Amino acid sequence: MRVLLTGHQGYLGTVMAGRLATAGHDVTGLDSGLFAGCVLGPPPADPPGHRADLRDVRAELLEGVDAVIHLAALSNDPLGALSPELTYSINHHASVRLARLARDVGVRRFLYASTCSVYGASGGDDLLGEDAPLRPVTPYAESKVRVEDELLELADDDFTPVLLRNATAFGFSPRLRADIVLNNLVGHAHLTGEVRVLSDGTPWRPLVHVADIADAFAAMLDAPREAVHARAFNVGGEQNNLTVAGIAGHVVEAVPGSRLLITGETGADPRSYRVDFSRIRQALPGFHARWTVKAGAVELAEAYRTYGLTQADFRERFTRLAWLAERRSSGTVTAELRP
Ligand SMILES: NC(=O)c1ccc[n+]([C@@H]2O[C@H](COP(=O)([O-])OP(=O)(O)OC[C@H]3O[C@@H](n4cnc5c(N)ncnc54)[C@H](O)[C@@H]3O)[C@@H](O)[C@H]2O)c1
Repeated sequence: MRVLLTGHQGYLGTVMAGRLATAGHDVTGLDSGLFAGCVLGPPPADPPGHRADLRDVRAELLEGVDAVIHLAALSNDPLGALSPELTYSINHHASVRLARLARDVGVRRFLYASTCSVYGASGGDDLLGEDAPLRPVTPYAESKVRVEDELLELADDDFTPVLLRNATAFGFSPRLRADIVLNNLVGHAHLTGEVRVLSDGTPWRPLVHVADIADAFAAMLDAPREAVHARAFNVGGEQNNLTVAGIAGHVVEAVPGSRLLITGETGADPRSYRVDFSRIRQALPGFHARWTVKAGAVELAEAYRTYGLTQADFRERFTRLAWLAERRSSGTVTAELRP
């Protein structure tokens, strides 16, 4: 297939581009390059791509494309808090605009990177399936809910939107993010010897390895239309529904000599949910999330050692909010986050 992959120079996109190429797809990227230089280890081989802002995409770019995989976004809660307005203009309006353009030029499948954060404060110990109430608690999560709703309205006989609600990702990608829970805890332990949990450790977090996300999207391209048309799927596996304290326990094991410190300084966290992943396994019989958090912690610790992660890069280059704040203040991106 000819696939347009937005966000191909991000954390997930860099791994996904490789996965899609291995599957034989003809991949073109689209990214404004906000984090193109945020690389740990050898530089990745990017597919051919457009250096463009999602807000400026024109229909020509989508002509001849069979499927769009849409990852580009301000990708977490702190970025959303930086500017709710920008979050809605990029994550919501520009995403829906991209989907409309895609539908109008005859793209048949549109895979959307949503998030399990849409369940937000749904809380409790019950496993949440895709029909559970959506209770987003941040502009980031709210932007994802709005896009989901509008994509479903665009579905028709020729256009198949699919909503992939990814659990929080973990694992090594050459374009690292250190601001997601496991990557962060392993980095902190590697650099300081402490596994520092700022909450009380009780919130549930579903996690999924970046390679398993890439596998899920690749399988969604091939799935029969009737199995996936206009449906939402949680992406992950039940074995990786863990409390933050449970995640931290795996980190202590993976980083020799580190010790656990639960400070509780940020108090209770309303974002807590456990997720049911049976629907995606039923729709994609070959798919299951292979990576455990335990194995991911070991993989990250090895990568940080091998590539010499530094404290400065951990705090800035690999922390999306800090990196953008620095680039804004040095004038290499505008206030609207255009390079
Ligand atoms: N990483 C996770 O834990 C996770 C979990 C659930 C969902 N997701 C979703 O998956 C997607 C990818 O996440 P990620 O972790 O790779 O994030 P990331 O920040 O590493 O990558 C996002 C990419 O989008 C690009 N981008 C941002 N604004 C743009 C714009 N206006 N125009 C063009 N490109 C723009 C950035 O340059 C970057 O390369 C996001 O939509 C995110 O919300 C991620």
